[in-house]
Amino acid sequence: MKSISIAHSELEDKSNIELIDFYNQATEDYEFWSHDFNMHFGYFRPLKTNILKRDSMLNEMNDQVLKRLQINTQKHRLVDLGCGMGATMRRALSQFKNLIAYGVTISDFQQKKGNELLEGKNGVILKENYNKTSFQSNSFDSAVAIESFCHSGHDKKTIMEAFRVLKSGGRLIIVDAFLKKEVPQLTLGSHFAYKKLCNHFNLEKIEQIQNYELKLKQVGFTDVKIEDISLRVAPSVFHVPFAIVGFMLKKLWQTKSLKRESLHNLKGSFYALLSGLHMKSFGYYIITATK
Ligand SMILES: C[S@@+](CC[C@H](N)C(=O)[O-])C[C@H]1O[C@@H](n2cnc3c(N)ncnc32)[C@H](O)[C@@H]1O
Repeated sequence: MKSISIAHSELEDKSNIELIDFYNQATEDYEFWSHDFNMHFGYFRPLKTNILKRDSMLNEMNDQVLKRLQINTQKHRLVDLGCGMGATMRRALSQFKNLIAYGVTISDFQQKKGNELLEGKNGVILKENYNKTSFQSNSFDSAVAIESFCHSGHDKKTIMEAFRVLKSGGRLIIVDAFLKKEVPQLTLGSHFAYKKLCNHFNLEKIEQIQNYELKLKQVGFTDVKIEDISLRVAPSVFHVPFAIVGFMLKKLWQTKSLKRESLHNLKGSFYALLSGLHMKSFGYYIITATK
C-alpha cells in the first residue's frame, strides 16, 4: 500500500511538538523492548505465553485486542489510533486476510519506518492527529488504541473522533492505564508516581476509570465493558528494570552516551513500574465499546 503524508497544522501545535520529538528520537529504542516493535505492555496467559519471553506477552496483548474485535470473514476496515510502529496492525494483517489496516501516529519516524515494516501488506500508516483525522465518517468496522489515548489526557474529543469514524455497530478497543481514584484522593507516594509518569511519558493526564466509562457513554458508545487486567500485565511490567539496565549497558558500550529522549523514556518506564506497584491507585484495563 502506498504511504500518504498529510500535514495538519494542529498536529504540530505547541503541546504536540515535544511529544513528536520524543517519539521521533526514542522510538528506535523500543527495539530493545520488543523485536516486533510493540510499544506497550504484555498480557500473560499461563501455558500460552512465556513469562521470560517478553515478546510472547506483548504479542498476546495484540491477540487479546483482536479477539475482542470479533472480526468475521467479510471485508474489514481497521484503524489503529496511535499506532506506533504498526506492530498491532502487522499482527492483525497476519491473522486476517480480509483486513485493510490504517494507522495514525504523530511521529514522522514511526510513519516512515512503520510503513517500511508494512511493505507488501494491506496496511498503511498516516501522520495524523487522532483527535482530528481526515477519515470519512462511518468508514471503519473497528478501531483500536493501545497506550495512546493517554497522550491526550483521555480527553472526550479523542473518543468523539473514534466514534465519528466508526460505522454503526463498529467496536473500539482501548488498552491503557487509568486511575482508580480522583487525583486529589491519591496518596503522597502515588501522586508522586503519577506526576512523574505523566511528565516523562508526555501524558496530559490519566483519567479516573469510572469517569472515562461515563465519557464513552456520553459520546454514544454502548455495551461498554471494562476489564481490569493489571495482574495479567504485571509480569511484563516486571521486565522493566532488567530492560532498562540492559539497554543502558548496551548503549553506553556502543556509543558511550545516551540521548536525552532515551533517558527521559527510560525514566518514564521506571515510573510506570512504580505506578504499577500502587495497585490501589492505578489499574491497567482493556475497554470494549460499541457504536
Ligand atoms: C506508547 S505508543 C503506543 C504505540 C502502539 N499503539 C503500540 O502499542 O505499539 C503511543 C503512540 O500514540 C501516538 N500518539 C500520541 N498522541 C497522538 C495524537 N494526538 N495523534 C496520533 N497519534 C498519537 C504516538 O505517536 C505513538 O505512536
